[in-house]
Amino acid sequence: MDLLQASAVSKRYGGIAALSGAEFHAAAGEVHALLGENGAGKSTFIQILAGAVRPDEGMINFDGAPFRAANPSAAQAAGISAVFQELSLIPDLTVEQNIWFRHEWRSPLRMIRRKALREKTLELFARYAFPAIAPDQEVRRLTLADRQVVEIAKALARDPKVLILDEATSSLAPRETEWLLGLATRFAGEGRLVIYISHRLQEVRQVAKRVTVFRNGQTVAAHDTASVSDDEIITEMLGRRMERLYPERRDTATAKLALKVRGLSAGSRLRDVDFDLREGEVLGVGGLQGHGQRELFQALFGIGKSRGSIELWGREMTARGPRQALTGRDGIALVPEDRRGQGLLLSKSVRENLTLAVIPRFSSGGILSARREKALVAEMMTFLRIKAKTPDQVAGTLSGGNQQKVVFGKMLLTEARVLLLFDPTRGVDVGTKGEIFTLMRDLAAKGYAILFYSSDQPELVHVADRVAVMQNGRMAAILEGAGISEDGILRAAMIEKH
Ligand SMILES: Nc1ncnc2c1ncn2[C@@H]1O[C@H](COP(=O)(O)OP(=O)(O)OP(=O)(O)O)[C@@H](O)[C@H]1O
Ligand SMILES: [Mg+2]
Repeated sequence: MDLLQASAVSKRYGGIAALSGAEFHAAAGEVHALLGENGAGKSTFIQILAGAVRPDEGMINFDGAPFRAANPSAAQAAGISAVFQELSLIPDLTVEQNIWFRHEWRSPLRMIRRKALREKTLELFARYAFPAIAPDQEVRRLTLADRQVVEIAKALARDPKVLILDEATSSLAPRETEWLLGLATRFAGEGRLVIYISHRLQEVRQVAKRVTVFRNGQTVAAHDTASVSDDEIITEMLGRRMERLYPERRDTATAKLALKVRGLSAGSRLRDVDFDLREGEVLGVGGLQGHGQRELFQALFGIGKSRGSIELWGREMTARGPRQALTGRDGIALVPEDRRGQGLLLSKSVRENLTLAVIPRFSSGGILSARREKALVAEMMTFLRIKAKTPDQVAGTLSGGNQQKVVFGKMLLTEARVLLLFDPTRGVDVGTKGEIFTLMRDLAAKGYAILFYSSDQPELVHVADRVAVMQNGRMAAILEGAGISEDGILRAAMIEKH
């Protein structure tokens, strides 16, 4: 019998139907993937299960009885815990305080309480073989990936019967991803249920016994994973066939240098990095996560302190600082790692976010040309298939993947020809991913120069002309041609350097 059954679940936000009669059935003991393109209603659905959102209509049965949670604590108490797509930790609290936040920890003696808290944390970490994170570390000091791991610990802390993971691997490195997939398998093996949302079909195949596909707020199919092909799933998700994910490789690099970087260092995380990025080239950046990739992108964009020389189109960059870095065709633009922190103003509209960095382009004699702005915004929204009711929809109410598309569109509108793309397809559905890769190749052919980091190794292998592999803040190797492979990247990342 199914552990969880949901039928005819609907949810509207004003004029937007996030879910219209969705169906979902899942049994204990399985990892069940929930798939669908950006804005299909996946997060809304699991927020309803986890008590964070109330449905307008629908019936949910859990463990043989009707179920409706008034809030996340109630859902947790009933045995449903979720790791939501957008992180929810409190930065000023420590790892363990976040994990046990709101749980009943009422000992009159603080010392005893603290000791017990530590023991419980270590026990939890040991039970699921967590990656090493210090329990007393403040969350604000953690990387995005580590925060994600803490979110997972927090969801497991209540020993749930149902664990929901909403794109929990999207900011994890391959190693932690493997760990989480193992955890999900084991958790399900204990007779419990994992609901697994991801845009990475490879992971879904590896971990999920069943898949349910949503499209436009409705359930279009449910299958045993082994009995459907990727193509079939993608067609169900998109409602159309997708030709191919990766564009054909074209060598469009010229001899002209877009970026010439020498001796670039930042603190101890980025050490003495030299490389060239040519006009028309897509240069991938790989290596194990946390080996200086983030710092490299930040230093190039002028965030934080750095030393060394950066030449942009032959000119030494003096104006360090993101604002100066942005302007015009000879400028440099960034898709940052943390879209909610750095990329977007969540309370502003899609239109405002898209045009924020380029307002000067729309003003003639100081007056904003509203018509031009409107046309460009509409064009960008169509091109990237940004799913918003109108350009005035508030960015914070878009689905996660659509927020990422806005960040990407904002960068494109700057017209800067040196693009720093830090994991630009994170959380983006497979259809749009393909379009982004094609676009990257087209831009390269037009003379753009692109530095491209991805947490998804196959993307580097299939899209980049060369791949720079980082290790301990240095560039350990630059792979070219036939030397580019997942294996090659991994090997270069692990080789001992003296
Ligand atoms: N608070 C809100 N106000 C208005 N619209 C909303 C709100 N929350 C969600 N929506 C809309 O509901 C739809 C479904 O969003 P949801 O986040 O469930 O999609 P998703 O399948 O999780 O997509 P993604 O893969 O991008 O995460 C989207 O069109 C979104 O804009
Ligand atoms: Mg979502």
